[in-house]
Amino acid sequence: MPQDPYVIDEMISAKTIAARVEALAGEISACFSDTDKLVVVGLLRGSFIFIADLVRELSLPVEVDFLEASSYGSMTESSREVRILKDLRGEIAGRDVLVVEDIVDTGYTLHHVRHLLSARKPRRLKVCALLDKPARREVDMSADWVGFDIPDEFVVGYGIDYAQNNRNLPYIGKVRFT
Ligand code: IMP
Repeated sequence: MPQDPYVIDEMISAKTIAARVEALAGEISACFSDTDKLVVVGLLRGSFIFIADLVRELSLPVEVDFLEASSYGSMTESSREVRILKDLRGEIAGRDVLVVEDIVDTGYTLHHVRHLLSARKPRRLKVCALLDKPARREVDMSADWVGFDIPDEFVVGYGIDYAQNNRNLPYIGKVRFT
């Protein structure tokens, strides 16, 4: 699909992201220090780079699973309906679970996912989001850990896309239409 031309302005450097991921992993490891194993659930597809970096910094036994929920199409507007496109492979009843999300925007996706996973009766369920746009929130939803609060801008990179593009940028950048 043709897109309007745009440029990407760096917002958060790869080095800054790495330092923050290390700090988050320290806090998460401390919080779950008594776990036998932490099930780290990545929300596809935007969290794939974040989860890869985060799990390598956790000083805990971990298992990795993925869930795919739809909220964005190929546009820069969030839709309200959240559908589960791919469910977890494993069971989470009685287990320690950390959901890893790229961005909390309106909050609908995480609100829905948290509700869905809570119903499966995990022992503990926590949420870590790399980015948070508090100004965009439409439902009462807050992550237990947030990497960075950002303004209401459309961002790409470090796993995050614009119409499936730019996920491979090592930094997070702001999309600016030219
Ligand atoms: P929410 O349900 O509105 O909170 O939407 C969360 C999802 O929207 C995120 O997981 C992203 O996939 C997507 N999203 C929100 N903001 C952006 C953005 O700035 N760039 C790319 N995707 C975004």
